[in-house]
Amino acid sequence: MQAGAYAPVFEYFWQDEKGPGMSIWSDLAKHQRGCEGRHILELFDDPDRAEAFTVAAGEMRLDYSKTNIDATARELLIALAEGAGLVEARAAMFSGAKINETEGRAVLHIAQRAGDEAVIKVDGADVMPELRKERARAYAFAEDVRSGAFTGQGGQITDVVNIGIGGSDLGPAMVTLALAPWHDGPRLHYVSNVDGAHVADTLRGLNPETTLVIVASKTFTTIETMTNAQTVRNWMAAKVADPGAQFAAVSTARDKTAAFGIAPERVFGFADWVGGRYSVWGPIGLGVMLAVGPAAFDELLAGARAMDSHFCAAPLDQNMPVLLALVGIWHNQICGHATRAVLPYDQRLARLPAYLQQLEMESNGKRVGMDGADLERQSGPVVWGEPGTNGQHAFYQLIHQGTRVVPCEFLLAAQGHEPDLAHQHRLLAANCLAQSEALLRGRSLEQARGLMAAKGLDGAELDRQARHRVFPGNRPSTTLIYPKLTPFTLGQIITLYEHRVFVEGVVLGINSFDQWGVELGKELATALGPVLEGADASDKDGSTRALVSYILAAHG
Ligand code: F6P
Repeated sequence: MQAGAYAPVFEYFWQDEKGPGMSIWSDLAKHQRGCEGRHILELFDDPDRAEAFTVAAGEMRLDYSKTNIDATARELLIALAEGAGLVEARAAMFSGAKINETEGRAVLHIAQRAGDEAVIKVDGADVMPELRKERARAYAFAEDVRSGAFTGQGGQITDVVNIGIGGSDLGPAMVTLALAPWHDGPRLHYVSNVDGAHVADTLRGLNPETTLVIVASKTFTTIETMTNAQTVRNWMAAKVADPGAQFAAVSTARDKTAAFGIAPERVFGFADWVGGRYSVWGPIGLGVMLAVGPAAFDELLAGARAMDSHFCAAPLDQNMPVLLALVGIWHNQICGHATRAVLPYDQRLARLPAYLQQLEMESNGKRVGMDGADLERQSGPVVWGEPGTNGQHAFYQLIHQGTRVVPCEFLLAAQGHEPDLAHQHRLLAANCLAQSEALLRGRSLEQARGLMAAKGLDGAELDRQARHRVFPGNRPSTTLIYPKLTPFTLGQIITLYEHRVFVEGVVLGINSFDQWGVELGKELATALGPVLEGADASDKDGSTRALVSYILAAHG
C-alpha cells in the first residue's frame, strides 16, 4: 500500500450517513449523560460485573469494572472503534503500509519483535533479514562486553553510560530499572538532559578506562545528545589514549556516527519506520541487552509478541489494548476528564509514567486530524503518575477529594521478587486494592458524621469536621494485574500501551506517529543560543528580553 492509500480507512467513519461521524459520538454522549447520576457501585448489583468487565491476555488481566462503563457504553465504544476503521487500520500497520502520512513512513515497531518466520515488506522488500542481522550484532556485542571479550583500556567494562533523550532514553531506562532482578552485566547509567548537572553527576565516580559509552540517537542530530556525547568524549580523552574505542552508537544515520568517529563495527542501525518512542525493542535497547543479557531481552520480545498476537486475534470486545483505549476515550472525550494517572504499585516501574508521557502525549497530543482539519473533540489526555505507595503520601489527596475527577490506572503484580519480603508485598497489594476501593466507594456524610460522633463531637463542630472527611467516591479506575514483573510480562505491558495509543489515535483520526509539536521550541532554542552570548535580542518579546538580561547580568 502506498502513502495516501490509508486515508480512506479513517474517512469511513467520518462519512457516516447521519453527518460527519457524529452519530455514535452523540449516542455515547447521550448515554453518558443518562448514567451520570448512577454510582459505579450500583453496577456491582450485577454479581457478574467484575468478570464481565475484565479482559484477559494470557495470564494478565485488565479489570475495568470500576468505571461507569456498562454494556451499552461498551457496545457503543466498540462500534466507534469499528466505525473508525480500526480493523483495517491495524491490518495496514502490521502490513507495512505507510500510515505515518506526514512523514511518508511505514510504522513497523512490531517488526522488531516479530517471530523468526515473519516476512514484513516495505516498498516490496522484506525488512526482516536486515533487522535480524542488526539484532544479532547487538546481541553479540552485548555478550562480548558482558563476558570481557570486549574490554575498556583499563580492563573489563564495569559501567555503561547511555546518552540519548526521549525515545532513545525513556524506553531503555524504564526497562533497565524494571528488570533489576535480571541484572548480571555492567552497571547502566542514563544521561539525557542537556543540563550539565546530569552528565556531571553521572560521570562522578566512574572510571573512564572501564566505561563504555553508547550514543543513542535515531537522527544523530539531537542537540542534547550530541552535546552530552561531546562532553563525555572530552572526559574520556583526558584519561584514555583512544576514547573512540570505548564508544558505540545506535542510530539510523551511519554517515553521522562515522563523522563523530565511532567505528562501524560498534554502530547498530535501525530503519526510519521505527518511531523513537517505539524503539526499545531493537538496538536502542542495547543498554538493556548489556544489563540483562540477550536471553532475558528475548523474553521481553516474546512478551511483546504475545500481546501483538492478542491484539491482532482477539475479538474487539475481548481485546485488551482496544478496551484500554476505549476506556480512555470514554473518560477523556466522553466524560471530559482531561488527565489520566498511571499508578504502578511496582517500584521497578517507577519510570513507566515518564515513559508513557512520551508514548501517549507525543503520539496523540495533536490538534488536527489525518486530513489536516481541526479535531472536533479533545486530543489525548495529560498523563502523569508515580509509583504507589509514594503517590498516596503526595497527590492522592486531590484524587480522592479534589473537585476534578482523575481516572486512575493501577498496575499490580500478584507476587514480588523478594521472597523474604512477602509481607511487604502483601502490604503493597493491600494498599493498591484499598485505593481503588476507596475511589469507588468513597465515604458518605452520614458515615463521616458517625466517625465524628464516635470521637465525641456534636453540634455544628461535628457537622463542620464531618464535611472535611467526606469522600465523594464514584471515581473510576482500572487495574492491570499480572503474576510477576518479568521480562515477558514487561514486554506485554509496554505493547499493551503502544497498541492502546494506536487505537486511540485511530478513533480520534490522529496520526500517532509524527511529532511536529516539538519543532518550534527546538528552532527557537537554536536562535536563542547566540542571544545568551550577547547577540541582539531586539526581535524578542519583552518577557524574553528581560529574562535574557537577567541571565547575562548574572554572568557579569
Ligand atoms: O522530542 C522529539 C524527539 O524527536 C523524539 O520523538 C525522540 O524520541 C527524541 O526527540 C530523540 O530523538 P533522537 O533519537 O533522534 O535523538
